[in-house]
Amino acid sequence: MTLMQRVREQEEEFIGLRRRIHEHAEVSFQEVETTRLVRDYLDGLGIENHPNGSSTGVIGILKGDKPGPVIALRADMDALKLTEQTDLPFASKNPGACHACGHDIHTAVLMGTAKILKSYRKELCGTVKFLFQPAEEGLGGSLTMIENGALENPKVDYILACHTWPEMPAGSIGVRKGAMLGASDTFTITVTGKGGHAAHPHKGIDPVVIAAHIITQLQTIVSRRIAPVDAAVVTVGHLTAGTVSNIIPNEAVMEGTVRTQDPDTRKKVAEYMEQLAVGTARAMGGDAKVDYHFGVGPTMNDPVLIDKISEAVSQVLGPDKLLQVPVPSMGAEDFAFYLEKVPGALFRLGTFDERPESRWALHNPSILFNEEAIPTGIAAMAASVFQISGSDMEVLKA
Ligand code: NI
Repeated sequence: MTLMQRVREQEEEFIGLRRRIHEHAEVSFQEVETTRLVRDYLDGLGIENHPNGSSTGVIGILKGDKPGPVIALRADMDALKLTEQTDLPFASKNPGACHACGHDIHTAVLMGTAKILKSYRKELCGTVKFLFQPAEEGLGGSLTMIENGALENPKVDYILACHTWPEMPAGSIGVRKGAMLGASDTFTITVTGKGGHAAHPHKGIDPVVIAAHIITQLQTIVSRRIAPVDAAVVTVGHLTAGTVSNIIPNEAVMEGTVRTQDPDTRKKVAEYMEQLAVGTARAMGGDAKVDYHFGVGPTMNDPVLIDKISEAVSQVLGPDKLLQVPVPSMGAEDFAFYLEKVPGALFRLGTFDERPESRWALHNPSILFNEEAIPTGIAAMAASVFQISGSDMEVLKA
């Protein structure tokens, strides 16, 4: 029986897992039921598993009978703080928690992959670690997994993940070498002036005018300092200063976000921001302080791993199911924190079908996902593990 036949034979069970997770959607760090479901399932399969410290989340370990590398597979489990607006019979029963980002599918795919790989244990080279991660939406759940040793004992050599994608047809897999998703950083700029009477501006230093100039100057980072072919976004989303119309305040504060795809561009934006903010403020007689917070980095796919995933998908699902993702997304993923430690890759799982709601954007409370993504994702994950670990691919086709 081929890998795909094995998956098809059990797909009802895997889809059932997804529906159960979907119905009992849980938001970041509250994935208590989902964690229990996963642990019970792994226990039932006889797969060693551990809690993620005191947080929600599970780390499963499967040792193949043959020697080889350690490959981690990661699924995020959290729902969005959103009330579902679909008529699905398994719609979320928890108001304010909705799987509109497809993390229920990721979790079911990883549970199914664990079961399938267990059945190939004799032929499997190396060890597979199953990382069922909490709190991707807050972009920090992966840090709890890393702190709790997800990448150690045994030390992980490669890490893979997938993410649903409503811009690709159900049953397809999307790959891209290099930049896949953006980095997300934040900043706060505090402008200091000298307060006074609004009628006597010359006796003070007006931080409001300085802040206005800084905001305008910040627009030149993307337009004049970053190469036109490199992507970057600089947005000031919050600005406060003063209390009433006739007082020049002492201070103005702005906060914003920066999105980039290239690590070098990321560093440059932070550097230019410091120059512009401090330089502009001082030139106008005031001062500025920039607090720059490097958040989650870009998701950079390892090209060698993408080649192996592509080969595996072509062999198991057929070359027509493998699609190239033409441009990276400016969305961010906390999967990038793992990639700071080990090489890895994230591929996309197509989810659209003939229903218009299946083409709506992720995070829309009415979005529908075609469940063909589940068997497709399981087959792609399992085959990629075989290909990367050097296990015999012929076994999957026999
Ligand atoms: Ni997501």
